[in-house]
Amino acid sequence: MMDASRRSAPSIGAPVQRCIRSECGASFEIRERIYVCPKCGGPLEIRAPLPSAIEAAALRICWRSRAASLDPRDRSGVWRFREVLPFYDEAPIVTLAEGNTPLYDAPRCAEYSGVDALRLKHQGCNPTGSFKDTGMTTCVTQAVLLGARTVVSASTGNTSASLAAYASRAGLKCAILLPRGQITSTKLAQSMDYGAIVCEIEGNFDDCMRLIREIAEEPSIYLANSINPFRIEGQKTVAFELIEQCEWRVPEHVVVPGGNMGNSSALGKGFEEMQQLGLIERLPKLNVIQAEGAAPLAQLFAALKRELKPDSTSIPEGLTPIENPQTLATAIKIGSPVSWEKALRSVIRSHGQVISVSEQEIADAKAMIGRDGIGCEPASATTVAGIRKLAAAGFIRREESVVAILTGHLLKDPDYVSHYHRGTLSLRPDAKDRRTGPQLIEGAFRNAPMQVTASKKAILDQLRRTNS
Ligand code: F0G
Repeated sequence: MMDASRRSAPSIGAPVQRCIRSECGASFEIRERIYVCPKCGGPLEIRAPLPSAIEAAALRICWRSRAASLDPRDRSGVWRFREVLPFYDEAPIVTLAEGNTPLYDAPRCAEYSGVDALRLKHQGCNPTGSFKDTGMTTCVTQAVLLGARTVVSASTGNTSASLAAYASRAGLKCAILLPRGQITSTKLAQSMDYGAIVCEIEGNFDDCMRLIREIAEEPSIYLANSINPFRIEGQKTVAFELIEQCEWRVPEHVVVPGGNMGNSSALGKGFEEMQQLGLIERLPKLNVIQAEGAAPLAQLFAALKRELKPDSTSIPEGLTPIENPQTLATAIKIGSPVSWEKALRSVIRSHGQVISVSEQEIADAKAMIGRDGIGCEPASATTVAGIRKLAAAGFIRREESVVAILTGHLLKDPDYVSHYHRGTLSLRPDAKDRRTGPQLIEGAFRNAPMQVTASKKAILDQLRRTNS
């Protein structure tokens, strides 16, 4: 493990950790193990001198050419953009060749959503099946540089799977806190297989998050939730990769699910840095979509919108947490998102929106994504549901270019898919009360398996019937 004191100077100046609150703005050394501002408790972000705007054209060529290189740093869709990362050149990186995920056309989703064209950037194609890997590579690299021996996180399942994998690669001990019975069996299986110490807690994700922040006060323990600004640094490269895939033409809208709000914060930071670098001339509107039963930021945004002046960039005082968040999209079943301030700042600066969608809308949007031949988990489908809603409201115009970020792979939650298509997907699967019932979701695009006799004729008959 590398001794932190042997670090050479970063090649593009000295990065700092800075409090984002304008009334504070305190800066801290990059090697201080802090997660929030020690002065005011505000969120921290990494500020590093960026390459000059004059270098923008050279950077584009350099990043592109690395895609053909076999160097492990170039094989990673995160480290390929290392000029904008706060690490020195020879840092001993921990990588699983993350990033470089596909951008797909989704014509059926476009039609369903009421727009001419829609593209889906599939972050579920990362090594552990979710976007978390792009942030975990930088976060675990920083843990190694700091000499941490144990990395920890609270999770709704994907962060833990990703952290467990990267910790194993780095030879670090990994402990994760999960809300018992509230994460999918496949995500849990991943964490077990990657060798993490899995602690199932009585309570929800927000309880796990509170607890893990206390645990991370121990000096040898490093916290890998997205409150950690080094996670955000890796995740912001998705913005660079996306715009490169769009041939440097900025889409009008980028749409992303909202849970703990790390992803939206990271994309916002990425786009803003690209603008500062002269790589893009304007920001895409960043739109964040939450599930109706777990939508504290959408609620705040709705209240704010009534007061917000069009050119306002200020962040309101407080977010009211949802005590008992509910959604079948378990990845985003979060009532008290830790990074809401950063995310909201990016939404406001880019003139985007934060809205919520219903369970029915999520489920049908997910099936529609499937019809385009693309498999994602329920949380990711909030995006297409949200685009449909924003298009119906006239905020997204039919001819505008739209990209949705799919955050996790379909195989992360196959039970949900199976229940949807068999007509047994229920908001309250354990409901005993006959009056309220289990609240089944009536899938508009159900596709249940059929029981067919084992003969050629029976199968051909079935095919004919289904064609008509
Ligand atoms: N989509 C998926 C598949 C996720 O796993 C998450 C978050 C989100 C969207 C929301 O992203 O939190 O950055 O706003 N999952 C976390 C976890 C909370 O523990 O795996 P966010």
